Amino acid sequence: MADFNKDGGTVPMLLAGGAGLLLGLLANPARKLAVQTPTMLKGAWDEALAAEHKATLALIGVIEKTDPDDTARRSILLAQLKHMIGKHSFQEENTVYASMRQRELLAAAQGLNEDHAGVKQLLFELTEMQRDDARWLEKVRALRNELEEHMALEENEHFPKLRAALNEQENGELTKAMNKEGLKLA
Ligand SMILES: [Fe+2]
Ligand SMILES: [Fe+2]
Repeated sequence: MADFNKDGGTVPMLLAGGAGLLLGLLANPARKLAVQTPTMLKGAWDEALAAEHKATLALIGVIEKTDPDDTARRSILLAQLKHMIGKHSFQEENTVYASMRQRELLAAAQGLNEDHAGVKQLLFELTEMQRDDARWLEKVRALRNELEEHMALEENEHFPKLRAALNEQENGELTKAMNKEGLKLA
C-alpha cells in the first residue's frame, strides 16, 4: 500500500476526528429537517404558525390528562412543550415580529413580545415546581389560558394585518425566513 505521508496516519486521523466534531456540531441535520417539515408543508408563514399553535394546545391537552404520580412522564412532556414553544417563539420574534416593526406595527409587536415573556415565566415556574405538586396542573391551565389568548390575537388580528401589509413576494420571503429560523432550533 502506498505511504501517503510521513506522519504515518496522524493527519488522516485528525481529519476523521474533525469530521466527527463537525457532524456533532451540525446536530443531525436530518432530524432537524424532520422536526421542521410539518411547519414547512403548511405553506404560508401565518398558516404554518397557526398549525404550530394547534399542535402546542394538543400537547398541553396530553399534559392535562397526566396523573400527579406520573412525574417522569410530566417531565418528558414539559421538556417537549418547552422545545416546541421555544422554536415557535424564536421563529416569530426573529422574523414575523421584526417584520411587523418595519410595517408600523410596533406597538402590536411589543405586546406580543411581552406575552412571550409571560409564557417563558410560566414555563420556568413549571420547571421549578415539583411535578406531583397539586398546583402544577393549575399552572399548566394558566399557561393554556395565556397561550389561547395570545394565539387568538395573532391569528385573528395581527397576522392578517401583516399579511395584508406585505405583497405576495414579501409574504413568500417571510415564509422562507421563518422556516430558516425554525431549522436552527428544530
Ligand atoms: Fe407568539
Ligand atoms: Fe404564535
